[in-house]
Amino acid sequence: MKLTVMCFILLGASKTFVHSLDSYRAAVYEHNVTFPADRTKILPRDEALQVMKKNLVVYSQQAKLASDKEARIIVFPEYGLFGLGWTRQTIAPYLEYIPDPKSQTWNPCDKPAPFNSTEIQHMLSCMAKDNSLYIVANMGARQPCTISDPKCPIDHQYQYSANVVYGPNGDFLARYFKFNLYSDEKQFDKPEQINLTTFETPFGRFGTFSSLDIMYHDPAITLIEKMNITNIAYPTAWIDELPLLSAIEFHSAFAEGMHVNLLAANLHLPSAGYHGSGLYWPTGTSIDGMYYYNDSLASNGSLVVGTFNPFIFLESNDTRTKSLDALSVKSEGIRNKAITVKINGDLFTAILTRDSYGKLHVCQGSLCCDALFEGEFSSELYAFGAFDGIHTEGDRYYLQACVFIKCANNTPESCGTPTKVSSSYMSKMSFYGNFTTKYVFPEVLVTENGVLELVTRYWLYQNAVIIDVGLYGSPLSISIFSRDYSHDN
Ligand SMILES: *[C@@H]1O[C@H](CO)[C@@H](O)[C@H](O)[C@H]1NC(C)=O
Ligand SMILES: *[C@@H]1O[C@H](CO)[C@@H](O)[C@H](O)[C@H]1NC(C)=O
Ligand SMILES: *[C@@H]1O[C@H](CO)[C@@H](O)[C@H](O)[C@H]1NC(C)=O
Ligand SMILES: *[C@@H]1O[C@H](CO)[C@@H](O)[C@H](O)[C@H]1NC(C)=O
Ligand SMILES: *[C@@H]1O[C@H](CO)[C@@H](O)[C@H](O)[C@H]1NC(C)=O
Ligand SMILES: *[C@@H]1O[C@H](CO)[C@@H](O)[C@H](O)[C@H]1NC(C)=O
Ligand SMILES: *[C@@H]1O[C@H](CO)[C@@H](O)[C@H](O)[C@H]1NC(C)=O
Ligand SMILES: *[C@@H]1O[C@H](CO)[C@@H](O)[C@H](O)[C@H]1NC(C)=O
Repeated sequence: MKLTVMCFILLGASKTFVHSLDSYRAAVYEHNVTFPADRTKILPRDEALQVMKKNLVVYSQQAKLASDKEARIIVFPEYGLFGLGWTRQTIAPYLEYIPDPKSQTWNPCDKPAPFNSTEIQHMLSCMAKDNSLYIVANMGARQPCTISDPKCPIDHQYQYSANVVYGPNGDFLARYFKFNLYSDEKQFDKPEQINLTTFETPFGRFGTFSSLDIMYHDPAITLIEKMNITNIAYPTAWIDELPLLSAIEFHSAFAEGMHVNLLAANLHLPSAGYHGSGLYWPTGTSIDGMYYYNDSLASNGSLVVGTFNPFIFLESNDTRTKSLDALSVKSEGIRNKAITVKINGDLFTAILTRDSYGKLHVCQGSLCCDALFEGEFSSELYAFGAFDGIHTEGDRYYLQACVFIKCANNTPESCGTPTKVSSSYMSKMSFYGNFTTKYVFPEVLVTENGVLELVTRYWLYQNAVIIDVGLYGSPLSISIFSRDYSHDN
């Protein structure tokens, strides 16, 4: 096969403004949470408060720093006040009753009453007020119930993972109870109903949800589609999982796929895999590299501050489609035999390649993936794979994915296992899958000397990722993660 066979049509795009936002500065803080080594003991409330206050001291410093850098909103991570690994009983002293902000206006900083034991809410509200910032934080809620409610737990309270939002004068603006819980979050209850939680700011309407919620239709997709949301405040406790679910990789892909600004604040516990935070926006993957990724065990939390500028979408009709047309020409000479590659427990049908250019085609179920690429591959092994089925490891959801991933070493068995090493270069790629849904999340993750980076120089167009100007790092994963929510059950 000769290089001249390849046909890449470059840009001649007509750009049209179809959507814009006000610009604003925002911050997320990746927090190295302090929490007791022993989470099997039930502490008195005042000791639980001491634990949370240690973390709030750091929050307060970071809120000040964010405010000094002219951020107007800061998001703190899920579990940032008390850490992970609790039981229903041992988490109880950390929880507070959180009233419904819709039923009355309340400024906990100005007036802690009429609610008791709301120290955390008081401090968060004052932190917002002192720094003139919107603050979004995650905490624990205890909502009393009585036996007249047949679902009321035996300890007479519902326990929820809650996001709370305060305005720059300290007003309590919004409360969200996490709906999609991981199987190990037994300390919390799943709310009976989902409330779509929004709040208004002078720089746009925000929605909020947390962590695993981002994987499911509700509340995430409904919120974005039905409530005219352009920004998401997203506290998370996310385990970084290569090659497809690294935090910066998937969260930036979601922002792009759903056309929202995503303010993602993660815990910083690299020893347990939790890290990776950022400010992601719809046209590229992150604003000016505004993300934090450091998995070194010696690394600390970090504040990320950046400006969300008004953005434009490209009219979805331009000459780039021609490079897709080139894909639809019947693939000639596919020499490689399909093998099975396991990624996060999912068995992909894949073909292996070490070529510096080529045309690849692979199918599984009703999904076919095509790629046309050119680069310098140093004979490194890559796998091009398709998956169409139910993901069952850990969480359960229907997944369709087309992936082009770097294998961990030069053996087929290593494909699908995490790696951060590559010395290849990708100059052009057209990458397409015939997904059954419009919910496609494009992931382009590269590495430079073992450091993960997101790249912005690619295009998402009708289920396809097109790279036409060359990546500046070495590709680890060029993938499309797609969710057809209608087949989740
Ligand atoms: C606050 O505490 C007092 C005394 O401990 C109690 O009588 C009252 O019911 C509590 N109020 C709320 C809203 O929990
Ligand atoms: C949903 O909102 C309603 C009305 O504000 C409130 O009564 C209810 O407790 C909320 N439920 C949850 C799970 O947040
Ligand atoms: C969303 O925006 C559309 C068009 O601007 C408007 O008709 C609709 O009422 C808005 N919906 C909400 C929930 O604000
Ligand atoms: C990660 O943190 C460690 C420890 O602070 C530091 O030495 C290293 O340079 C950081 N790595 C990156 C990529 O920033
Ligand atoms: C992270 O927090 C833990 C617990 O407070 C502390 O022991 C550790 O030194 C912190 N890491 C850094 C880099 O400061
Ligand atoms: C890590 O960050 C915390 C909070 O800002 C700070 O108190 C601590 O000194 C930092 N640790 C190191 C090793 O710099
Ligand atoms: C795309 O462009 C072609 C040719 O310029 C035009 O015929 C077609 O109607 C356009 N399609 C859309 C969806 O705008
Ligand atoms: C995707 O393409 C393959 C091969 O052309 C076809 O068999 C399959 O039905 C297509 N899937 C969908 C959902 O259209």
